[in-house]
Amino acid sequence: MTIQEVWTKAREVMGPKCRVCPECDGRACRGEIPGVGGMGSGSSFTVCREYLKRVKVLMDLVYEPSEIDTSMELLGRRFDVPFFMAPIGGMDSNYNGYLTDEAFADMTIRGMVDSGSLSFTPDAFYDSLYELQLPIIKDVGGVAIPTVKPWALPRLMEKIRQAEDVNALAVACDIDSCGNLLLKKAGKPVYPISQEGMGRIVNSTRLPFIPKGIMTPAAARRCADAGCYGIVVSSHGGRVMEDSPAPCSMLPEIREAVGTRLKIFVDGGIRSGMDVFKCLALGADAVLIGRPYVIAAHGGGREGVVLYSQKIRNELRDAMVMTGCKSLSDITRDKIRVQ
Ligand SMILES: Cc1cc2nc3c(=O)[nH]c(=O)nc-3n(C[C@H](O)[C@H](O)[C@H](O)COP(=O)(O)O)c2cc1C
Repeated sequence: MTIQEVWTKAREVMGPKCRVCPECDGRACRGEIPGVGGMGSGSSFTVCREYLKRVKVLMDLVYEPSEIDTSMELLGRRFDVPFFMAPIGGMDSNYNGYLTDEAFADMTIRGMVDSGSLSFTPDAFYDSLYELQLPIIKDVGGVAIPTVKPWALPRLMEKIRQAEDVNALAVACDIDSCGNLLLKKAGKPVYPISQEGMGRIVNSTRLPFIPKGIMTPAAARRCADAGCYGIVVSSHGGRVMEDSPAPCSMLPEIREAVGTRLKIFVDGGIRSGMDVFKCLALGADAVLIGRPYVIAAHGGGREGVVLYSQKIRNELRDAMVMTGCKSLSDITRDKIRVQ
């Protein structure tokens, strides 16, 4: 199977909610929730691609050739690549039900481990989604990061215990789900979490804690002060609030605010190895990629997920060759210009 065949098959089976556009940029699906779009005008999604296109990469081929290393350390392990799968829930509500939640979880969690990476896995307004993933996570030795909704603290802690029971490497929480339309519609209350609340969570689990949906230097500093392991700079794919900037555009300020106290992940519109390179140069340690992995799973199952990862890794390696970067730590701010 080739990556082109994966995309061709996905186009046959995915409609009508995801149209598998030549570029997944949020224009065709504007305002479609349930569906795969950004909220309202869709601008918080489309701005991600617009910003990444303004980031230009500087060639430098005056160096002694050597091996290129795309691997990174995370959670005390080595991963082959600095990109991971973002949590995407609702195969029925947001897509067309061609894949069940369980089939999707199986192919993506295992496919990401095969890729030398891992998945952040979703939670939803219905409990079965979170729970059906747990045995799969256990089976891959816990190499995944369950991402819990910001429920009231007792419920949140219950779900963190479930993640501990399957030896997950860490646990994340998409606090930006406070703007999630599907949770609102289902009448399921979720809440912001204070620095003190985060501190309580951090102190009551052995799992490293990673809030997702951090967009300001001040919020990032509060997460660092609370003892979080990392943050995901994210606007939830533009699905929870209108008029967010591109998350990657906030990276320089956020990195400056927290230094190396937190691992910084970012997502939103990252579609190529060159985009991964740009986000690392802007200040991220690693990135998450969401919607394209769903397309890869629809078109090629577990193998499609691996093929897509290989494509991104090859593109990242090419970008590193062309810019004189031997390892990820060489991908610094002076390798790019924002125009
Ligand atoms: C259909 C859909 C469902 C999503 N479900 C979740 C979820 O359950 N939990 C979560 O933290 N993020 C969820 N997200 C947000 C993604 O994790 C990610 O932040 C976002 O899609 C940006 O990445 P992308 O542009 O590469 O898709 C969802 C996004 C989409 C499109």
